[in-house]
Amino acid sequence: MANANDVLISQQNRVMSIAWNRPEKKNALTQQMYADAAAALRQADADAAVRVVFLTGRADCFTAGNDLADFLHHPATGADSPVVQFLMAIAQCRKPIVAAVNGAAVGVGTTMLLHCDLVVAAASARFSLPFAKLGLCPEGASSYLLPQLAGYQRAAELLLLGDAFDAQTARECGLVNRIAGADDYQTLGRELAERLALLPPDSVRTTKALLKRGQQGVLTDTLQAEFDQFGRMLQGPEAKEAMQAFMERRPADFSQF
Ligand code: COA
Repeated sequence: MANANDVLISQQNRVMSIAWNRPEKKNALTQQMYADAAAALRQADADAAVRVVFLTGRADCFTAGNDLADFLHHPATGADSPVVQFLMAIAQCRKPIVAAVNGAAVGVGTTMLLHCDLVVAAASARFSLPFAKLGLCPEGASSYLLPQLAGYQRAAELLLLGDAFDAQTARECGLVNRIAGADDYQTLGRELAERLALLPPDSVRTTKALLKRGQQGVLTDTLQAEFDQFGRMLQGPEAKEAMQAFMERRPADFSQF
């Protein structure tokens, strides 16, 4: 069930904060949460009073990724679906995005970080990309951005086996800038966001645009190719078995495919 407080949005010192806040489901993302976050990102982009976006979760969990019950019962990945709108908004945001992560960052919880400019992780953060295990395929342009960042073999291991990895590995892969203690990671993330918010805004936006310039075409192309495959697989028998198994708390069985 969607709740009005599942995403907390606030603004202070020219920083817009977007915080996942659905603790009873480990911040699993519903269509409404994607829609709210996409709208906030578009607003941050358009509003001159916002210089930086700060993206976070709760102290014990960043996000468990897409709500699996939603995937099972209301699969939506068309161009105007909230998840696609969110991924486009985060990929296209012209203002810097600083993320602060602790606990689980599963699936889109990790791929959204590939679109952030600075990522601070608590030492206890756990990342994972379990798409293949779930009968799905990479999303969020991770099939392009992760090999670019981490090298082909490391990306293949993370995207094929889908095992969880720690903050140190995420840093070695280039996914995380700084690692901090569980009591400090939020403060450090906020500090970095507020430092960016004090810099000349045109310089910051232009620097980000130039950094991203080389990847714009391929990013759009990759997102589209992934959406096409993901949408197909979400309706398929492998994903249905994987998600049903999660709900029933039993191991998935892919032997019949
Ligand atoms: N979608 C829907 N519900 C989810 C969820 C998700 N992605 N992740 C967790 N939940 C729910 C659980 O079903 C459980 O609900 P319940 O209390 O009503 O039974 C609740 O959140 C707590 O989850 P639980 O698994 O007991 O917490 P945990 O601390 O043991 O483990 C995770 C946390 C994130 C490691 C684990 O929940 C998990 O692996 N979730 C699935 C992640 C996933 O595959 N995401 C999709 C990626 S594409």
